[in-house]
Amino acid sequence: MAAERKFFVGGNFKMNGDRKMLDSIVENLNKTECGNTQVVVAPPTVYLSYVKEKLSDNVNVAAQNCHNVAKGAFTGETSPDMLLDLGISWVILGHSERRHVFGETDELIGKKVQYALEKGMQLIPCIGEKLEEREAGTTEQVVFGQMETIKNNVNDWSRVVIAYEPVWAIGTGKVATPQQAQEVHQKLRQWLAQNVSDAVSKSTRIIYGGSVSAANCKELAKQPDVDGFLVGGASLKPEFSDIIKARC
Ligand code: PGA
Repeated sequence: MAAERKFFVGGNFKMNGDRKMLDSIVENLNKTECGNTQVVVAPPTVYLSYVKEKLSDNVNVAAQNCHNVAKGAFTGETSPDMLLDLGISWVILGHSERRHVFGETDELIGKKVQYALEKGMQLIPCIGEKLEEREAGTTEQVVFGQMETIKNNVNDWSRVVIAYEPVWAIGTGKVATPQQAQEVHQKLRQWLAQNVSDAVSKSTRIIYGGSVSAANCKELAKQPDVDGFLVGGASLKPEFSDIIKARC
Protein backbone atom coordinates (compact mmCIF):
# COMPACT_ATOMS: atom_id res chain seq x y z
CA MET A 1 0.00 0.00 0.00
CA ALA A 2 2.90 2.31 -0.73
CA ALA A 3 1.96 5.97 -0.89
CA GLU A 4 3.56 6.39 -4.29
CA ARG A 5 1.24 3.83 -5.88
CA LYS A 6 -2.11 5.47 -6.58
CA PHE A 7 -4.97 2.97 -6.41
CA PHE A 8 -6.05 2.07 -9.94
CA VAL A 9 -9.38 0.68 -11.15
CA GLY A 10 -9.82 -0.36 -14.76
CA GLY A 11 -13.11 -1.38 -16.35
CA ASN A 12 -12.88 -3.78 -19.26
CA PHE A 13 -16.25 -3.77 -21.03
CA LYS A 14 -15.05 -6.47 -23.47
CA MET A 15 -17.45 -6.88 -26.43
CA ASN A 16 -20.44 -5.54 -24.52
CA GLY A 17 -22.68 -2.51 -24.63
CA ASP A 18 -24.58 -0.31 -27.04
CA ARG A 19 -24.99 3.47 -26.90
CA LYS A 20 -27.90 3.25 -24.48
CA MET A 21 -26.07 0.98 -22.07
CA LEU A 22 -22.86 3.03 -22.34
CA ASP A 23 -24.85 6.20 -21.56
CA SER A 24 -25.97 4.76 -18.26
CA ILE A 25 -22.49 3.45 -17.40
CA VAL A 26 -21.02 6.89 -18.16
CA GLU A 27 -23.68 8.61 -16.07
CA ASN A 28 -22.80 6.37 -13.14
CA LEU A 29 -19.05 6.99 -13.61
CA ASN A 30 -19.45 10.74 -13.87
CA LYS A 31 -21.08 10.89 -10.48
CA THR A 32 -18.68 8.48 -8.74
CA GLU A 33 -16.16 10.40 -6.71
CA CYS A 34 -12.97 9.02 -5.26
CA GLY A 35 -10.00 11.33 -5.67
CA ASN A 36 -7.60 8.70 -4.32
CA THR A 37 -8.27 6.39 -7.22
CA GLN A 38 -7.30 6.52 -10.87
CA VAL A 39 -10.06 5.20 -13.14
CA VAL A 40 -9.64 3.98 -16.73
CA VAL A 41 -12.39 2.28 -18.73
CA ALA A 42 -12.06 0.24 -21.91
CA PRO A 43 -15.16 0.23 -24.12
CA PRO A 44 -15.25 -1.65 -27.44
CA THR A 45 -13.16 0.06 -30.14
CA VAL A 46 -16.12 1.41 -32.10
CA TYR A 47 -17.37 3.27 -29.03
CA LEU A 48 -14.06 4.75 -27.85
CA SER A 49 -14.79 8.29 -29.06
CA TYR A 50 -18.44 8.10 -28.04
CA VAL A 51 -17.52 7.24 -24.46
CA LYS A 52 -14.58 9.63 -24.30
CA GLU A 53 -16.74 12.58 -25.30
CA LYS A 54 -19.29 11.87 -22.58
CA LEU A 55 -16.98 11.00 -19.72
CA SER A 56 -15.74 13.62 -17.31
CA ASP A 57 -12.04 14.42 -17.58
CA ASN A 58 -11.03 12.52 -14.47
CA VAL A 59 -11.87 9.15 -16.04
CA ASN A 60 -9.55 7.98 -18.81
CA VAL A 61 -10.40 5.75 -21.73
CA ALA A 62 -8.41 2.73 -22.90
CA ALA A 63 -8.53 0.49 -25.94
CA GLN A 64 -8.83 -3.24 -25.26
CA ASN A 65 -6.08 -4.11 -27.71
CA CYS A 66 -3.98 -2.62 -30.50
CA HIS A 67 -1.56 -3.73 -33.18
CA ASN A 68 2.19 -3.17 -33.30
CA VAL A 69 2.58 -1.08 -36.44
CA ALA A 70 1.29 2.35 -37.49
CA LYS A 71 -0.77 1.42 -40.53
CA GLY A 72 -1.10 -0.91 -43.46
CA ALA A 73 -2.76 -4.07 -44.68
CA PHE A 74 -3.94 -5.42 -41.31
CA THR A 75 -7.68 -5.87 -41.74
CA GLY A 76 -9.59 -5.40 -38.52
CA GLU A 77 -6.70 -4.00 -36.50
CA THR A 78 -6.24 -0.65 -34.76
CA SER A 79 -2.90 1.09 -34.32
CA PRO A 80 -1.61 3.08 -31.34
CA ASP A 81 -1.16 5.98 -33.76
CA MET A 82 -4.91 5.94 -34.50
CA LEU A 83 -5.81 5.69 -30.84
CA LEU A 84 -3.60 8.65 -30.01
CA ASP A 85 -5.20 10.57 -32.87
CA LEU A 86 -8.52 10.11 -31.04
CA GLY A 87 -6.96 11.21 -27.75
CA ILE A 88 -6.90 7.67 -26.36
CA SER A 89 -3.59 7.13 -24.58
CA TRP A 90 -4.28 3.91 -22.66
CA VAL A 91 -4.39 0.33 -23.95
CA ILE A 92 -4.90 -3.11 -22.41
CA LEU A 93 -2.50 -5.65 -23.94
CA GLY A 94 -2.25 -9.43 -23.72
CA HIS A 95 -5.60 -9.94 -22.02
CA SER A 96 -6.22 -13.66 -21.46
CA GLU A 97 -8.96 -13.62 -24.09
CA ARG A 98 -6.46 -12.24 -26.61
CA ARG A 99 -3.99 -14.95 -25.57
CA HIS A 100 -6.34 -17.91 -25.33
CA VAL A 101 -9.27 -17.14 -27.66
CA PHE A 102 -7.31 -15.34 -30.37
CA GLY A 103 -4.00 -17.14 -29.96
CA GLU A 104 -1.77 -14.14 -29.26
CA THR A 105 1.70 -15.28 -28.32
CA ASP A 106 4.07 -13.78 -25.75
CA GLU A 107 6.22 -12.71 -28.68
CA LEU A 108 3.42 -10.72 -30.34
CA ILE A 109 2.37 -9.18 -27.03
CA GLY A 110 5.98 -8.13 -26.46
CA LYS A 111 6.03 -6.36 -29.83
CA LYS A 112 2.78 -4.59 -29.02
CA VAL A 113 4.15 -3.48 -25.65
CA GLN A 114 7.28 -2.14 -27.28
CA TYR A 115 5.50 -0.27 -30.07
CA ALA A 116 2.71 1.22 -27.94
CA LEU A 117 5.27 2.51 -25.42
CA GLU A 118 7.45 3.91 -28.18
CA LYS A 119 4.40 5.87 -29.37
CA GLY A 120 3.88 7.27 -25.88
CA MET A 121 0.93 5.20 -24.72
CA GLN A 122 0.18 3.97 -21.21
CA LEU A 123 -0.28 0.24 -20.90
CA ILE A 124 -2.10 -2.38 -18.90
CA PRO A 125 -0.34 -5.62 -19.87
CA CYS A 126 -2.13 -8.69 -18.49
CA ILE A 127 -0.62 -11.90 -17.19
CA GLY A 128 -2.02 -14.92 -15.40
CA GLU A 129 -1.98 -18.69 -15.13
CA LYS A 130 -4.60 -21.18 -16.27
CA LEU A 131 -6.29 -23.55 -13.83
CA GLU A 132 -4.20 -26.54 -14.89
CA GLU A 133 -1.04 -24.50 -14.45
CA ARG A 134 -2.05 -23.49 -10.92
CA GLU A 135 -2.93 -27.08 -10.11
CA ALA A 136 0.39 -28.25 -11.47
CA GLY A 137 2.15 -25.76 -9.17
CA THR A 138 3.57 -23.73 -12.07
CA THR A 139 1.86 -20.38 -11.39
CA GLU A 140 5.13 -18.57 -10.65
CA GLN A 141 6.91 -20.03 -13.63
CA VAL A 142 4.04 -18.99 -15.94
CA VAL A 143 3.64 -15.42 -14.68
CA PHE A 144 7.39 -14.83 -14.45
CA GLY A 145 7.74 -16.03 -18.05
CA GLN A 146 5.05 -13.59 -19.17
CA MET A 147 6.72 -10.82 -17.16
CA GLU A 148 10.07 -11.55 -18.81
CA THR A 149 8.65 -10.83 -22.28
CA ILE A 150 6.98 -7.67 -21.04
CA LYS A 151 10.15 -6.51 -19.26
CA ASN A 152 12.28 -7.03 -22.36
CA ASN A 153 10.05 -4.54 -24.16
CA VAL A 154 9.50 -1.88 -21.50
CA ASN A 155 11.72 1.19 -21.41
CA ASP A 156 9.51 3.33 -19.17
CA TRP A 157 7.83 1.58 -16.25
CA SER A 158 6.02 4.75 -15.16
CA ARG A 159 3.60 4.14 -18.03
CA VAL A 160 2.88 0.50 -17.17
CA VAL A 161 0.27 -0.98 -14.83
CA ILE A 162 0.56 -4.77 -14.56
CA ALA A 163 -2.73 -6.70 -14.35
CA TYR A 164 -2.48 -10.10 -12.69
CA GLU A 165 -5.54 -12.04 -13.82
CA PRO A 166 -5.63 -15.75 -13.07
CA VAL A 167 -7.46 -17.23 -16.06
CA TRP A 168 -9.53 -19.51 -13.84
CA ALA A 169 -10.99 -16.47 -12.09
CA ILE A 170 -11.99 -14.50 -15.17
CA GLY A 171 -15.73 -14.42 -15.77
CA THR A 172 -16.21 -17.50 -13.61
CA GLY A 173 -17.40 -15.97 -10.35
CA LYS A 174 -14.43 -17.81 -8.74
CA VAL A 175 -12.44 -14.90 -7.33
CA ALA A 176 -8.94 -15.49 -5.97
CA THR A 177 -8.91 -15.21 -2.20
CA PRO A 178 -7.22 -12.07 -0.88
CA GLN A 179 -4.35 -14.33 0.29
CA GLN A 180 -3.98 -15.99 -3.12
CA ALA A 181 -3.91 -12.60 -4.84
CA GLN A 182 -1.49 -11.09 -2.32
CA GLU A 183 0.86 -14.07 -2.60
CA VAL A 184 1.25 -13.70 -6.38
CA HIS A 185 1.37 -9.89 -6.28
CA GLN A 186 4.10 -9.99 -3.68
CA LYS A 187 6.11 -12.46 -5.77
CA LEU A 188 5.68 -10.27 -8.84
CA ARG A 189 6.93 -7.27 -6.90
CA GLN A 190 9.93 -9.28 -5.74
CA TRP A 191 10.53 -10.34 -9.33
CA LEU A 192 10.52 -6.69 -10.41
CA ALA A 193 13.05 -5.85 -7.68
CA GLN A 194 15.34 -8.66 -8.81
CA ASN A 195 14.92 -8.26 -12.55
CA VAL A 196 14.32 -4.55 -13.05
CA SER A 197 15.08 -2.37 -10.03
CA ASP A 198 14.05 -1.61 -6.48
CA ALA A 199 12.54 1.69 -7.54
CA VAL A 200 10.38 0.08 -10.25
CA SER A 201 9.31 -2.64 -7.85
CA LYS A 202 8.15 -0.03 -5.34
CA SER A 203 6.42 2.29 -7.80
CA THR A 204 4.72 -0.05 -10.31
CA ARG A 205 1.04 -0.72 -9.76
CA ILE A 206 0.08 -4.42 -9.81
CA ILE A 207 -3.70 -4.76 -10.10
CA TYR A 208 -5.83 -7.87 -9.71
CA GLY A 209 -8.50 -9.06 -12.14
CA GLY A 210 -10.90 -12.00 -12.11
CA SER A 211 -14.47 -11.89 -10.80
CA VAL A 212 -13.93 -8.71 -8.78
CA SER A 213 -17.26 -7.48 -7.38
CA ALA A 214 -18.64 -5.00 -4.88
CA ALA A 215 -18.84 -7.87 -2.41
CA ASN A 216 -15.18 -8.96 -2.57
CA CYS A 217 -13.30 -5.77 -3.52
CA LYS A 218 -12.80 -4.34 -0.03
CA GLU A 219 -10.92 -7.36 1.34
CA LEU A 220 -8.79 -7.61 -1.80
CA ALA A 221 -8.02 -3.89 -1.62
CA LYS A 222 -6.61 -4.31 1.91
CA GLN A 223 -3.76 -6.46 0.64
CA PRO A 224 -0.50 -4.50 0.67
CA ASP A 225 0.57 -5.50 -2.84
CA VAL A 226 -2.84 -5.21 -4.52
CA ASP A 227 -2.86 -1.73 -6.06
CA GLY A 228 -6.26 -1.90 -7.71
CA PHE A 229 -8.39 -3.96 -10.07
CA LEU A 230 -9.17 -4.77 -13.66
CA VAL A 231 -12.90 -5.41 -13.66
CA GLY A 232 -14.83 -7.17 -16.42
CA GLY A 233 -18.45 -8.16 -15.81
CA ALA A 234 -19.02 -5.88 -12.81
CA SER A 235 -17.72 -2.83 -14.70
CA LEU A 236 -20.97 -2.92 -16.71
CA LYS A 237 -23.10 -2.71 -13.57
CA PRO A 238 -23.91 0.04 -11.07
CA GLU A 239 -21.75 -1.79 -8.48
CA PHE A 240 -18.67 -0.62 -10.44
CA SER A 241 -18.81 2.60 -8.44
CA ASP A 242 -18.47 0.62 -5.19
CA ILE A 243 -15.39 -1.09 -6.61
CA ILE A 244 -13.90 2.29 -7.57
CA LYS A 245 -14.45 3.37 -3.98
CA ALA A 246 -12.94 0.19 -2.49
CA ARG A 247 -10.12 2.19 -0.91
CA CYS A 248 -11.75 5.60 -0.62
P1 PGA B 1 -14.29 -10.48 -14.88
O1 PGA B 1 -13.21 -10.16 -16.01
O2 PGA B 1 -14.25 -9.36 -13.89
O3 PGA B 1 -15.61 -10.55 -15.63
O4 PGA B 1 -13.91 -11.79 -14.27
C1 PGA B 1 -11.97 -9.58 -15.68
C2 PGA B 1 -11.18 -9.34 -16.93
O5 PGA B 1 -11.26 -10.13 -17.87
O6 PGA B 1 -10.43 -8.34 -17.02
